[in-house]
Amino acid sequence: MSMLATIGQVAHFAVGLTGNPLTIIGLVPIFAAGLAFLRYVAVDPESHPVNVRHVRREYDFIVVGGGSAGAVVASRLSEIANWTVLLLEAGGDENEISDIPAMSGYTQMSEFDWMYQTSPPGDSPYCLAMIGDRCNWPRGKVLGGSSVLNAMIYIRGNKHDYDQWERQGNRGWSYQDVLPYFLKSEDNRNPYLSKTKYHQTGGYLTVQESPWRTPLSIAFLQAGKELGYDIRDCNGEKQTGFMLSQGTLRRGSRCSTSKAFLRPVRMRNNLHVAMYSQATKVMINPKTKTAYGVKFVRNNHPQTVRARREVILSAGAIGSPHLLMLSGVGEKNHLQSFQIPVLSDLKVGYNLQDHIGLGGLTFIIDDPITFTKSRYQTFAVAMEYIVNEKGPLTSLGGVEGLAFVNTKYAPKSGDWPDVQFHFAPSSINSDGEQVKKITGLRDSVYNTIYKPLRNAETWTILPLLLRPKSSGWIKLKSKDPSVYPDINPNYFTHREDIQTLTEGIRIALNVSNSQAFQKFNSRPHRIPFPKCRQYDFDTDDYWECSLRHFTFTIYHPTSTCKMGPVEDPDAVVDPRLKVHGIKNLRVIDASIMPNIVSGNTNAPTIMIGEKGADMIKEDWGIKIR
Ligand SMILES: Cc1cc2nc3c(=O)[nH]c(=O)nc-3n(C[C@H](O)[C@H](O)[C@H](O)COP(=O)(O)OP(=O)(O)OC[C@H]3O[C@@H](n4cnc5c(N)ncnc54)[C@H](O)[C@@H]3O)c2cc1C
Ligand SMILES: *[C@@H]1O[C@H](CO)[C@@H](O)[C@H](O)[C@H]1NC(C)=O
Ligand SMILES: *[C@@H]1O[C@H](CO)[C@@H](O)[C@H](O)[C@H]1NC(C)=O
Repeated sequence: MSMLATIGQVAHFAVGLTGNPLTIIGLVPIFAAGLAFLRYVAVDPESHPVNVRHVRREYDFIVVGGGSAGAVVASRLSEIANWTVLLLEAGGDENEISDIPAMSGYTQMSEFDWMYQTSPPGDSPYCLAMIGDRCNWPRGKVLGGSSVLNAMIYIRGNKHDYDQWERQGNRGWSYQDVLPYFLKSEDNRNPYLSKTKYHQTGGYLTVQESPWRTPLSIAFLQAGKELGYDIRDCNGEKQTGFMLSQGTLRRGSRCSTSKAFLRPVRMRNNLHVAMYSQATKVMINPKTKTAYGVKFVRNNHPQTVRARREVILSAGAIGSPHLLMLSGVGEKNHLQSFQIPVLSDLKVGYNLQDHIGLGGLTFIIDDPITFTKSRYQTFAVAMEYIVNEKGPLTSLGGVEGLAFVNTKYAPKSGDWPDVQFHFAPSSINSDGEQVKKITGLRDSVYNTIYKPLRNAETWTILPLLLRPKSSGWIKLKSKDPSVYPDINPNYFTHREDIQTLTEGIRIALNVSNSQAFQKFNSRPHRIPFPKCRQYDFDTDDYWECSLRHFTFTIYHPTSTCKMGPVEDPDAVVDPRLKVHGIKNLRVIDASIMPNIVSGNTNAPTIMIGEKGADMIKEDWGIKIR
């Protein structure tokens, strides 16, 4: 493809993203993207995966979904030269805009996003500050999946999470068992980390800290110390503490799982990647209960493809349960109400868990050192990114620091924190109206609370609840595969979830009160949500009201195809990720987590992909080194 055509495409893409690039994001990112492409052609030896023209009639394995887990599974299975592997992905390929770390918010609401929304809440309200009381749930519809949309934060979760999975009857999933799989993927580019036994070099997935940060990131670490926490690698021996963000970054750009795991193997002729191919059903023989193929639609053209050995669903925590139910695997009564014949009666779609926190918890300082659009969307900044692979555009979606803290409700046994902080030297207002757009905030809320901050220096902590007690479900709305399912996260149905978050917010206020932040005259922004005006600032009622208004998903839906032994009435897959009651069918993605991990979910999902691929190899008699 010619360079001009590509730059043209990027410009076209940017217009699609924003409506009008001149007024909304300016031309700088487009220019940056064009030059980034030049750099890519000149320097990068890896080209993009090939979109196969013709899908064969049969493969050994069919992987549905090329996201965080699916890209790993397809890459690893195709290491076996005499296995043929087909990867079906509903979306297309990532591009130069999605590569820019600081612009991660701009791929939401684009063609790369499924643009799911939660259904309006019931008795326990949430997302009340959003249009229609609905939370936006972006999910990647692109090769690399949500690893193309995400903020690239690299966090593994807590040891106790995995040990708990194992205690629930999932043999082989303890922390000791999964750590080698985190290491297998990793190519850590920070020597101070890679020399510890918790990190590794030489894997496919590049991990590093952003090469650029504001001075406030250091204040954040110092504040942690003042509050009695250690500054540490929270992916290492202990999790409790404060750290600079580690990210899936490669030479200053996003390292999606497509870039990491599929580009290097693009020349394998036993791996076919079919983009713009949306699976609509898994074909299962009703007599033998054996999966033998997949129906899919490519460019409006329905097709089928057969699997000699296995079908693997890696369509994510919404896509995988959705497909299972369409294929006759799910709760009996629910499927029967859509006249879908039931092949295995399982609690598919239940146990939906997510991380949520208070959005828009904003602090104001006096010094001109925060991340504002006017300061950092400049030509010089673009050049710094393109030429030196450094500078503000390499910032991980703006999240510079992370912390894992204990509220008074945290387990007393120690080192299993219940609240995580995402620290950013910016706020809802800093990026024009982009954050408003992607969160779906109502005009009245935005104009009242965040517009007055237009020229202010702001920073944020997003305090999030690591192990929610509330859980929800994904259910069918129709047996037509193109109709999105009903998404109901049931946030805050357990009071403890509000109480824990409220304590987390108060620890965040103490970060602002630390000497480290008082040097900058830090103070909370106190304009309440219009419907929370009757409560005094910092009362329990005030925070509950705020949480129910600006309920901020950290985009971690999981656990809708719960892993558990056959005795577990809620389990959908067994500890080898095989669907209970169906042969030759596995689920390998974030939906198998029995409980959501205490941290961001991308790295754990990649680990699940690595481990799942090894289990498949073992089960087909391949020796694992
Ligand atoms: C905006 C955002 C920010 C995030 N930030 C972070 C972060 O900073 N750090 C972190 O650790 N995690 C983050 N996450 C979460 C993390 O990215 C996800 O948990 C992870 O990517 C999930 O991986 P998965 O393989 O389960 O699903 P996905 O990566 O979503 O992959 C599913 C794939 O399947 C495809 N698919 C679905 N249905 C079909 C079908 N019927 N046919 C064919 N293909 C199909 C999809 O198009 C997609 O490519 C973020 C997520 C989002 C959306
Ligand atoms: C695949 O290769 C392995 C070893 O390379 C061999 O043992 C096996 O028989 C082969 N299988 C097929 C179906 O060719
Ligand atoms: C915040 O700091 C104050 C003063 O040091 C302390 O009394 C309070 O317990 C702290 N709050 C939390 C939630 O840790």
